[in-house]
Amino acid sequence: MTPPLRSDARRAQVRRRTQRRRRRSLAALVALVSASVMIVVGAELVTSGGSAGAAPRPTETASPTATASSAAPGDPSPIPTADPSEDPDAAFCDDAVRAAVASGDADEVVRAAGGGEAFRSAVASGAAAECVALDRPEWAWVVVDKQRPIDPIDFAPELAAPSSVYSAVGATMTPTAAAALDELAAAVDAAGQGQVSLFSGYRSYATQVTAHSGLVAQLGQEAAERTSARPGYSEHQLGLAADLVACDGRACGTIYEFGDTAQGRWVAENAWRYGFILRYVEGGTATTGYEPEPWHLRYVGVELATAYAEGGYETYEDFWGLGAAPDYAD
Ligand code: DAL
Ligand code: ZN
Repeated sequence: MTPPLRSDARRAQVRRRTQRRRRRSLAALVALVSASVMIVVGAELVTSGGSAGAAPRPTETASPTATASSAAPGDPSPIPTADPSEDPDAAFCDDAVRAAVASGDADEVVRAAGGGEAFRSAVASGAAAECVALDRPEWAWVVVDKQRPIDPIDFAPELAAPSSVYSAVGATMTPTAAAALDELAAAVDAAGQGQVSLFSGYRSYATQVTAHSGLVAQLGQEAAERTSARPGYSEHQLGLAADLVACDGRACGTIYEFGDTAQGRWVAENAWRYGFILRYVEGGTATTGYEPEPWHLRYVGVELATAYAEGGYETYEDFWGLGAAPDYAD
């Protein structure tokens, strides 16, 4: 899909901001070097004048040669006089981002912020805290894990059934996630890999009580909790998780077989193109507290899933710079 022009305008705005910041950093470096030169020329003060060496380093790099020539007498480079944080254009939560937040469209917010990676790094650094909350269950980027329960604990989303994905049990997801799953399933088929079916999507708090307690009875608490979330802690309750099975037109396999099927392998490689990440992977257990679940996809939106894939992340916690959540608080 062609990105909206607004996204291009936003990227241009982000580029202009970056260029302004680079110019400011370079000017600051010029001022710093000029001051150092004066101290050296003024002689012995250089040893007691450790303050020159202790001055804050500019964040941007510039070659000493370029800096020295920039610092030639009479150089007209402007010296910054204002704190960049006072520049309203430098704030993450600007009018475009706030308007997108008001629209309720998560992908629109991420695009307004300059794309998935720009959004991720702003959230991870705290720069987006004023207008973006990672703990609100209405947003596709919400984080839920063993340390971060759904708030409110009995949250229930708006739901829709995928229109073309076969679902033996009438599973549902949020309308956006259901539509994305339809696209993913069609792509699996178009790639010649066969069919997938939604085995389990949305599960209410009450359904998770049954699912979780059933597994605890079967496997014991510790083993069960490496594969099943407590009620109020499951991404299924958000309507953003999809447990998939592979089908051949006559029958479907189990979720446990999915990772070893052609469908499962294709999905692992390509799900991000449709807005999904594999939430629990090999190597992520120490962070998530769950064993690998190749069948469990989590919808986060195409922009964020793309940043996740391009960044090579293995856990959603690492993606946001959050602490590990291998255990419950109590
Ligand atoms: N199987 C995943 C962890 C859940 O129960 O949400
Ligand atoms: Zn699942």
